[in-house]
Amino acid sequence: MTNTVSIHPLLQVKNLTVKFKSSGVPKTILEDVSFELQKNTTLGIVGESGSGKTITALSILSLIPTPPLDSIKGQILFENKDLLKCNLSEWQGIRGKRIAYIFQEPMTALNPVLTIGDQITEMVRAHNSIGRKKATQLAATLLEEVGIPSPSERLKNYPHELSGGMRQRAMIAMALSCNPEILIADEPTTALDVTIQAQVLELFKNLMQSRGMSILFVTHDLSVMAEIADYILVLKNGRVVEYAAIQEIFDAPQHPYTQELLSLT
Ligand SMILES: Nc1ncnc2c1ncn2[C@@H]1O[C@H](COP(=O)(O)OP(=O)(O)OP(=O)(O)O)[C@@H](O)[C@H]1O
Ligand SMILES: [Mg+2]
Repeated sequence: MTNTVSIHPLLQVKNLTVKFKSSGVPKTILEDVSFELQKNTTLGIVGESGSGKTITALSILSLIPTPPLDSIKGQILFENKDLLKCNLSEWQGIRGKRIAYIFQEPMTALNPVLTIGDQITEMVRAHNSIGRKKATQLAATLLEEVGIPSPSERLKNYPHELSGGMRQRAMIAMALSCNPEILIADEPTTALDVTIQAQVLELFKNLMQSRGMSILFVTHDLSVMAEIADYILVLKNGRVVEYAAIQEIFDAPQHPYTQELLSLT
């Protein structure tokens, strides 16, 4: 396993071990998972279904409910503060603010009975003390930034009136409303067809550069990683099997499992 050279990691996950309890029996879901996210880079988490990608991402923001959570151990350092030890008021300044999260299912994350404009404006106002009119303007600017044409018009649409690609862009706009330093995106392009997927990946890349953000990008698809990631963490059965710079993974995958994932691309 190759480790990245850390200069100033923004986020450091150390020996993360997560156990669930089902029918009274503890089950290890993640074991000894360690990685770093550098400023202005994208780390991809890859692995087959059930390998623990979503649980790793959710753990960072302590978003796993009890039950099924039984215990969570290790350290998740964000600017040297251990997120696993944050209290509720400390979380208010971090979750959805300095670290934003895009969930695996965009349709479940968007409210079907509210317009895109109402939802983004609400997020904008939750993070900035500005009036409704200014918030609506900011929401339109955000839609423009994520490449949605005629943003003022689109604000009036309900989620089902947008295409899958546009909905995903709207989700990204919402996540950006708090100006996050870290964006965690769980399979944000999986449901999209290949052409739209490429456009949304391009958007992520551009946003990382223009905003100087760090991105934690979860996907089961290594060919998507090739487009976007600087570093890759390969998970299998809740354990890290490989962790290296993208070029190393593609040039010389060390683990047979990574080789197998590569053969699928
Ligand atoms: N709510 C839950 N209750 C019980 N077990 C769960 C729950 N959520 C996930 N798991 C288990 O935790 C393990 C890791 O799941 P996780 O959702 O992180 O996988 P994943 O890599 O994101 O998969 P996918 O590619 O399908 O999204 C799996 O064995 C899964 O069955
Ligand atoms: Mg998942």
